Amino acid sequence: MKYAHIIGWGKYVPSRVLTNHDLERMINTSDEWIARRTGIRERHIADARETTATLAFEAAARALVVADLHPSQVELIIVATSTPEYIFPSTACRVQDYLGAIKAGAFDLSAACSGFVYALDMAAQAIATGSVRNAVVIGAETMSRVLDWEDRGTCVLFGDGAGAVVLKGSDIEGGVLASTLRSDGSGGDLLSLPAIYHNPVPTLEPEYFHNGHKHNTITMDGRQVFRFATQVIADSVNETMLKAGLRLEDVNLIIPHQANTRIIEAAAKRLKVPEERFYTNVQLLGNTSAASIPIALCDAVSDGRLHPDDNVIFVGFGGGLTWAASAVKWNVTPPTVSRPRQEWRRARYVYARGRSKIKRYGRRLGAWLGGSPTPDAKMRDIKKKP
Ligand code: COA
Repeated sequence: MKYAHIIGWGKYVPSRVLTNHDLERMINTSDEWIARRTGIRERHIADARETTATLAFEAAARALVVADLHPSQVELIIVATSTPEYIFPSTACRVQDYLGAIKAGAFDLSAACSGFVYALDMAAQAIATGSVRNAVVIGAETMSRVLDWEDRGTCVLFGDGAGAVVLKGSDIEGGVLASTLRSDGSGGDLLSLPAIYHNPVPTLEPEYFHNGHKHNTITMDGRQVFRFATQVIADSVNETMLKAGLRLEDVNLIIPHQANTRIIEAAAKRLKVPEERFYTNVQLLGNTSAASIPIALCDAVSDGRLHPDDNVIFVGFGGGLTWAASAVKWNVTPPTVSRPRQEWRRARYVYARGRSKIKRYGRRLGAWLGGSPTPDAKMRDIKKKP
């Protein structure tokens, strides 16, 4: 059995910032209300050209630089997301293509805001059993695309971004020590995002409503979710510590899903640990769902909050309902990668995109020469039929 160590980390958030004051001009809300109830001051919003996959790629590329791992060595890519552009191809497959990770398996994982911790455990298990030697685990979201921007109860809470870690197997004890994964589908209606094909009657009406909410946007019972979150953070942290053989005093940092500072304060009280032991950055990013924990991890590292041999606990909760926690020993110091080597890596990604385009055009040319219609031509034929 190998130990799965985190050897690289990276994050990417879109450059466009939407502040609470901007929201005041869009809906009936106030900076004071949002900040007092949630702690959030601003969030980042993807521009028209950015997608969940492009954000995920940027975060993964940065994490691979820290890990000093070449994309062609990557064996598994898991993207935790609730906002994929496509059901298939998965976001993970798009990231695999952008990276040029030619030897990697890739799939998406759906566990809402707990998704990153679920994915981390899946990847750690695959490494522990020897199924793969390394893995890139990404949490990425474009929540701005699934919000009803007229619903002040939800649209003020979320933001866009991506975070990634690289895991690698090692004989050195440590890395991902233990995890707890839980769910309760009976609470599915408390926080949900109906898919576009949710209704059996096909409709493309933009103003189609589901349970009084615009279709394909997030619906939430804020109070119930608040109560659920404070309870499961404490329960899953306690259970995971027990499995990992840790006591509360052995835990140096808890990185919770960044939904709301009041939830984190209440969870700290319930666990009887000082609030300072919880890391928060929700103030500047809002709730980025599956991306929030890996982004917070990157910020915690750059803020100097994690040191070699620290024990850190990740804890996520969200739609499903789902919740999950992982205890990790932070005991691998990453190699420092020189600037020219970093630039060389960036150049490889441009090459990967070019290679992918050539393959795609090659396939089309082959189909055309062989007489089979392209997907576009097939679609034109179908439309022409009476
Ligand atoms: N600006 C101003 N007023 C708002 C508002 C906003 N953005 N959103 C709601 N309100 C109003 C409500 O309309 C209501 O007004 P009323 O009393 O006149 O009816 C009032 O504020 C209280 O609403 P309520 O929903 O009861 O507030 P709350 O104290 O429960 O706070 C949340 C709302 C969403 C901040 C809180 O419930 C929460 O944080 N829940 C957890 C949400 C979460 O983190 N979800 C993601 C988990 S992954």
